[in-house]
Amino acid sequence: MSKLYVFDHPLIQHKLTYIRDKNTGTKEFRELVDEVATLMAYEITRDLPLKEVTIQTPVSEAKTKVVSGKKIGLIPILRAGLGMVDGMLKIIPAAKVGHVGLYRDPETLKPVEYYLKLPSDIEERELIVIDPMLATGGSASAAIQLLKEKGAKNIKLMCLIAAPEGVKRVQNDHDDVDIYVAAVDEKLNDHGYIVPGLGDAGDRLFGTK
Ligand code: PRP
Ligand code: URA
Repeated sequence: MSKLYVFDHPLIQHKLTYIRDKNTGTKEFRELVDEVATLMAYEITRDLPLKEVTIQTPVSEAKTKVVSGKKIGLIPILRAGLGMVDGMLKIIPAAKVGHVGLYRDPETLKPVEYYLKLPSDIEERELIVIDPMLATGGSASAAIQLLKEKGAKNIKLMCLIAAPEGVKRVQNDHDDVDIYVAAVDEKLNDHGYIVPGLGDAGDRLFGTK
């Protein structure tokens, strides 16, 4: 059964407020998304398995721990997911990065695929699909489906803001995928935008309109 985790760390919540604010300009928006992505990466890796190793400190031998097990793959959904990649790589520098290009048709709100490039060993990796917005859930669900068709077995979804509709959609379509967000908002409006949300994540990150 898919679980929903809301990261309530005060620094994440504080920065999210300024990300939402319509008076926050592109430069600051980008910096804040990058910082929150680093903090969320710290939280989402909380359950990584450890193994014991023996090393020499300058004083003595020490039995201590390093991360073991599956390697990580980050899968940003283009475009807006790109804004979270560097922030995550700051603390997971060895992760490989695959790209899924999807845009949401403004009329039908259905995702349209235009690009796919993945690490060759995705079936052996723990994949984190990243996108700031989980609105109808169509894009995230389609991205996860593409990854499964390419052999992925272990997938998490990480978003800044989710609508309840998007959470339900992903949980229905992929009950093996846990969802990690900084906030679950009230609803979608008639244009499929999250309310109150942050507006159009891609446009705000890249200064387009
Ligand atoms: C946004 C966002 C998600 C999608 C969410 O991308 O980054 O990918 O919409 O909506 P959904 O849950 O209803 O599918 P958009 O389609 O605007 O493309 P862009 O990132 O290229 O701007
Ligand atoms: N995509 C966005 O960028 N924002 C929303 O609120 C919904 C979909």
